Amino acid sequence: MDIENIIAQVEEEIKAADSLERLEEFRLRYLGRKGILAQLTATIPSMPQEERASFGQKVNSLKNKLNLLIEGQKKLIQSDKRDSEVSYYDIGMPGVAQEIGHLHPLTQVNDEICRIFNRIGFSIVEGPEIESEYNNFTGLNIPLEHPSREAFDTFYLKDYPKMLLRSHTSPVQVRAMKKHKPPLAIIVPGKVYRPDAVDASHSFMFHQVEGFMVDKGIRFSDLKGILELFARTVFGDDIKMRFRPHFFPFTEPSAEVDISCIICKGKGCSVCGRKGWLEILGAGMIHPNVFKEVGIDPKKYNGFAFGMGVERIAMLKYGINDIRLFFENDLRFLKQF
Ligand code: DAH
Repeated sequence: MDIENIIAQVEEEIKAADSLERLEEFRLRYLGRKGILAQLTATIPSMPQEERASFGQKVNSLKNKLNLLIEGQKKLIQSDKRDSEVSYYDIGMPGVAQEIGHLHPLTQVNDEICRIFNRIGFSIVEGPEIESEYNNFTGLNIPLEHPSREAFDTFYLKDYPKMLLRSHTSPVQVRAMKKHKPPLAIIVPGKVYRPDAVDASHSFMFHQVEGFMVDKGIRFSDLKGILELFARTVFGDDIKMRFRPHFFPFTEPSAEVDISCIICKGKGCSVCGRKGWLEILGAGMIHPNVFKEVGIDPKKYNGFAFGMGVERIAMLKYGINDIRLFFENDLRFLKQF
């Protein structure tokens, strides 16, 4: 078989190879160790000297051409195969379901708290987590050398000595009262920081919601009514509430507020430490010194303030006994909410 004939023939043959198996048969027939090209090459030594070189070149270029044609046909067969697979794709088959997530339980509880107060006219205001020492302490009537400061101790910024991570959301009282004139009804959600060792009830970072109202003639009973509405909405209508005298530097009088234990209904159990009551927040009437710091006349205006921990409310609401569960992001925990 001479070379010119082969070239004319191969294109047709390759196009006729409609499967990878037939293409491979073709390849072996031409390019295999005992294939046609090998046979042609074997004839070279017996040729007249002057024909050898040009014949050798022709065989080589044929070999290259065949390789190219085979590769091209191979791609064609493979893509045809893919097309036919695609056309068998059954659009009636059920799809792969995407997992749908939901808000973190703390976000849910935080939003619920804010919604309750928002509905009765409180605006939502946020403040920075990096705060001045003044807003976190002095502006709130917590003198720098006063022992009560220890309760609100926090992390200081190494290169900015008068700046810290806020240890409560109360500094936003100072910011908001300096910026806006009364009447004010404000709620402040946000993260706070304390240098506490982590255990089942402590975390170096947690969430608070602060609330305060400033106007003429605000009474302690206004505070009681609003907090009772809040507690009943979150924990149910059958809870009881009590105000226990307490000390906070930024309120006078001050109280810690308890609800009757939602587990034992006040009889005493392990959750409430046999007391029948659970502490949910701190509150009081805004101290005149705080008003003076922010430039509001305490003879004309007064108001109340309160602050609560979101983790604590969520733990009580859902019966969660370890604060660390909120931050471990274990889906077995999170999926329950
Ligand atoms: N800032 C207090 C704390 O972190 C909570 C608090 C108590 C806020 C009484 C108040 C308040 O506004 O009146 O423990």
